[in-house]
Amino acid sequence: MNQEAPRAEPTGGKMRYFLVWSLCAFHLIKADAIELTDMFGEIQSPNFPDSYPSDSEVNWNISVPDGFRVKLYFMHFDLESSYLCEYDYVKVESEDQVLATFCGREATDTEQTPGQQSIISPGSYMSLMFRSDFSNEERFTGFDAHYTAVDIDECLEKSDEELACDHHCHNYIGGYYCSCRFGYILHTDNRTCKVECSDNLFTQRNGVINSPDFPRSYPKSSDCLYRIELEEGFFISLQFEDNFDIEDHPEVSCPYDYIKIKAGNQEFGPFCGEKSPGRIETRSNSIQILFHSDNSGENEGWKLMYTAVGDPCPLVEPPINGKIEPSQATYTFKDQVVISCSTGYHILKDDVESETFQIECMKGGMWSNKVPICKIADCKTPPELDYGLVTFSTPHNRTTYQSGIQYSCQHPYYQMVPNVTGTYTCDAGGVWKSPELGTRLPSCQAVCGKPKFSRSLLAHIVNGRYAKRGISPWIAMLHRDGLPFCGGSLLGNKWIVTAAHCLHHELDPEEPVLRSSDVISPSSFTVILGKYRTQRQDDTEQRLQPQSIFIHPSYKAATLQYDIALLELSEAARLNDYVMPVCFPDGSHQEDAMVIVSGWGKQFLHRLPEALVEIEIPLTDHAVCKEAYAKLQKGITEDMICAGEKQGGKDACSGDSGGPMVTLGNQTGQWQLIGTVSWGDGCGLNDRYGVYSNVLLSLPWIKQVTGVQY
Ligand code: ARG
Repeated sequence: MNQEAPRAEPTGGKMRYFLVWSLCAFHLIKADAIELTDMFGEIQSPNFPDSYPSDSEVNWNISVPDGFRVKLYFMHFDLESSYLCEYDYVKVESEDQVLATFCGREATDTEQTPGQQSIISPGSYMSLMFRSDFSNEERFTGFDAHYTAVDIDECLEKSDEELACDHHCHNYIGGYYCSCRFGYILHTDNRTCKVECSDNLFTQRNGVINSPDFPRSYPKSSDCLYRIELEEGFFISLQFEDNFDIEDHPEVSCPYDYIKIKAGNQEFGPFCGEKSPGRIETRSNSIQILFHSDNSGENEGWKLMYTAVGDPCPLVEPPINGKIEPSQATYTFKDQVVISCSTGYHILKDDVESETFQIECMKGGMWSNKVPICKIADCKTPPELDYGLVTFSTPHNRTTYQSGIQYSCQHPYYQMVPNVTGTYTCDAGGVWKSPELGTRLPSCQAVCGKPKFSRSLLAHIVNGRYAKRGISPWIAMLHRDGLPFCGGSLLGNKWIVTAAHCLHHELDPEEPVLRSSDVISPSSFTVILGKYRTQRQDDTEQRLQPQSIFIHPSYKAATLQYDIALLELSEAARLNDYVMPVCFPDGSHQEDAMVIVSGWGKQFLHRLPEALVEIEIPLTDHAVCKEAYAKLQKGITEDMICAGEKQGGKDACSGDSGGPMVTLGNQTGQWQLIGTVSWGDGCGLNDRYGVYSNVLLSLPWIKQVTGVQY
């Protein structure tokens, strides 16, 4: 609105007024109106302050800008008085009503003078008419009035609902404007507050939608659009709350505000009034809810809950030994079920095994897949154990879930290591499991040092005696060209421990260093186990071929330190009552323990014995033995162990080398290998002792090379 301040020129206005008035004065009757458009001005009776003429009429039209009113105040008033102002008067009018008629000098019962009161126009226009009749009894000075444009406070005055601001009203001089609460926008009518609600998309399977601000009055002049868009196959249902209030009309159907629902080519509504539309089944997966409000009315609005379901799928039966989750009476579009099997069973689908399987109800009421079957877990044929066997504890050699098996070793020659029951059960995962070892398998290891046959205590050893068959089942004969040349002992079922010096050619005495070319070929000799007689065949013998030779790395040919070696056989020996390994020393024997040495070595007079001979002798104190050999300048080192009696007699001799020196472990009750025959000064001489390689010292090397464990 143009608010240019009026120029304060009352004199200018007045001059114009005089000019117009004087022109009209000649006609004396009806005068054209004097137009006043300034924001203020002065209006005087003709000739003021002299007396006004008779028979005159002057009209003033006061127009102020919109948003203002005209306020008129008389500073002076002196007109002829007449009953009901019949003669002279001033009449103040608005466009369509008479605001006041004044005459006289002072107010009476029938006449009115303006006095101190101001007259205010209801609008921006006011007209004034001055009239005098043909005669004046006296001299009257007329009137002098001022008018001003005054501001209207529309915010206070516009109680008329049609015109008031919807939310906030702000008055200013000459006008007013409206504004809206947060979240609303002013409509182009500059009066009502609407909301932007034309873009609401719902994609969840259920939800709540309501008119803005529900249950407070919904905004005016708004067009809200709510879209629900779901996958094809869903049918949307709407449920309006009972609390429903949309502006209504008694005769016309929803002329002002309404809610309408479009679902495909169907339309529901328009709805308005106070009766809720209740439930609406749209049978559509994509709908639009339109809500229109006009620029008036205070109504609570509406609220609805929507849900979507699809076609049902046929009931599914869980597989045998399985279940379906979640378990429901009916399944509809998009419902998913997970099929799982009982413990010990798993899903088998298209040859693929899995723990769970999911199927989904699809549009049109079809399941995405058939229900798979539950197959029992199968551990399959259990692995075999060398020297052992498996027995099934469940009928028909079943290998499925909860079947049991029992491992055992070829008793009494093999035993289970570690010492466990060997019971395994097929678990739910299809794996054989033992309570002791889990999925690990035990192994069958040869039983050592436990001959079936024992010495008869009656025959006490004097100078050695023929052993009994099978009392040293670990002894091995190294055999070449029809003759035994050394002894040895069986470790595990395919290793022989013997003396290193048995396995190489004679060295140059000048430079007795062992080269690999000095070692004899494994194919140049044979190992015979289960042997008893020296040169005649035994029913119990097993001839085996050595495959590799391992000389102790610290072996010194010149001094016979570490005179110990290992032979690996090309195949395992068959363990039986006559062929059985010896145990490793456990270091528990006494320093002067009795030991048994056996072999097919030379007897006195250099004769070979008929059969295996054994002697029983005590171990010799290391210092004593060292002392005995010091005279001969032969070194007894830590890796050597001596045995024999001081007076001599019982001793090993040529051909016994590599053979076993054993003792009975007092804790284990098993025979263990203490030494291997190595050397001596002569055989059975007084104050000389047999010298043996100390097996305990070489044990780490032996275990490492052979891998034998008992
Ligand atoms: N070096 C002899 C051999 O090749 C064994 C000597 C054992 N001698 C003894 N008196 N203990 O068979």
